[in-house]
Amino acid sequence: MRFYLATGLLSSLSLDALAQTQIGQTCVTDDVCYKLSIPEATAQNGDGNIFLSLSAPTIYSWIGLGIGPSMTNSDMFVMYTNGNGNVTLSPRYSEGRAQPQFDGDLDVELLSGSGVENGIMTANFRCGNCARSRTANFDAQDGQWIHGRRTGDAMNTTDVQARIMKHDVQGGFTWAYSSAVGGASTNPFAASDTVISGSTSSSSGGNRAMRSNILLVHGIFASLAFLVFFPVGAIIMRLGQFNNVLGVHIATQVFSWLLFITAFGLGLYYGITGNYMTKAHPIIGIVLVAMMIFQPLAGWLHHRQFMRSGQRSTISHGHVWIGRIAIILGIINGGLGLELGGVETRYVIAYSVVAGVIDLAYIASIIYGEITRSRRTSVASSGHEKINSSPGRTLVTA
Ligand SMILES: *[C@@H]1O[C@H](CO)[C@@H](O)[C@H](O)[C@H]1NC(C)=O
Ligand SMILES: *[C@@H]1O[C@H](CO)[C@@H](O)[C@H](O)[C@H]1NC(C)=O
Repeated sequence: MRFYLATGLLSSLSLDALAQTQIGQTCVTDDVCYKLSIPEATAQNGDGNIFLSLSAPTIYSWIGLGIGPSMTNSDMFVMYTNGNGNVTLSPRYSEGRAQPQFDGDLDVELLSGSGVENGIMTANFRCGNCARSRTANFDAQDGQWIHGRRTGDAMNTTDVQARIMKHDVQGGFTWAYSSAVGGASTNPFAASDTVISGSTSSSSGGNRAMRSNILLVHGIFASLAFLVFFPVGAIIMRLGQFNNVLGVHIATQVFSWLLFITAFGLGLYYGITGNYMTKAHPIIGIVLVAMMIFQPLAGWLHHRQFMRSGQRSTISHGHVWIGRIAIILGIINGGLGLELGGVETRYVIAYSVVAGVIDLAYIASIIYGEITRSRRTSVASSGHEKINSSPGRTLVTA
């Protein structure tokens, strides 16, 4: 961000070296190449025109490029020959692992330089609303893209909705945006001052795999913490009917807490390096950490105090209520995280079902716990019965 701001500032001072049109090129094999140019205005606003180019030999019936890490919720661009010496550019939307469907809402415009020449088909185009994709963030340092192609006869059709055969080669790459930012909002492929910097996808493959693993572990750890262990640890404290309920509560919650903190660390790394920190999911994550950071200490103080007086203090209420709010907020934030990550719908459904069941059980246990607690407290205060009818139950009512 600072780099782009600096670029913008310097070029507005007409320093030609930095005002040049920048194109970032990624060749996924020798002669199948993708180019990207992000005008300075788009890089600064995170929204606006971008320019893309697809080129490949006509031994392929089609090639395609998609925004995001997978075919789930991906905006895509498919190119094939139109039979008149030019190409058809078909903007599509892919929901999952099925054939991407034509999407007329994607604002694309084929530009000069497109065509079929010497056995190479090329589509140079402008995309006006590519930032609509949840996974596209053009003021980030880089972004995840996917590509695919199919060897076969020329399609020779101007039909943007034409049926395409399934890809026989597909893959993904990380596009470094810093090398693609610069220039005005006109056709960069026709500009004379163009600087093309290239990378091959293999060099960024390791980084991409590592990033998607980080995201996976982040999601699994955070889901286990908020969907399973935090609520279970809290329910045990409410409803547990065995000796050493407190010990099990502490062990469960410390374990959940470590899972959460680890997930947070991974998410923070991913969010900062991918420039996602202005989205709701990471912001709520930071709020959660702020809420949870002193929960172990507050729990211990609450316990010590409760042993002494047998009653809830401010710390107790803080510990109990922060825990409740954090669990609910964490479960909601998990949903936002799934949305931000563009996760497949069936996983979102699975998450929602588990979250709903856990939520109900958890809220029921809170209500049940509060009712029995107030009953016991009132019985105790009227002098008929001591609070701790059995050893260990004292703590359970806390
Ligand atoms: C596609 O059209 C080109 C002319 O643009 C022609 O040379 C070629 O044979 C056609 N291919 C097929 C499979 O129809
Ligand atoms: C292909 O179509 C684009 C957009 O209409 C045009 O700018 C370009 O010149 C055409 N290419 C050829 C070789 O006719």
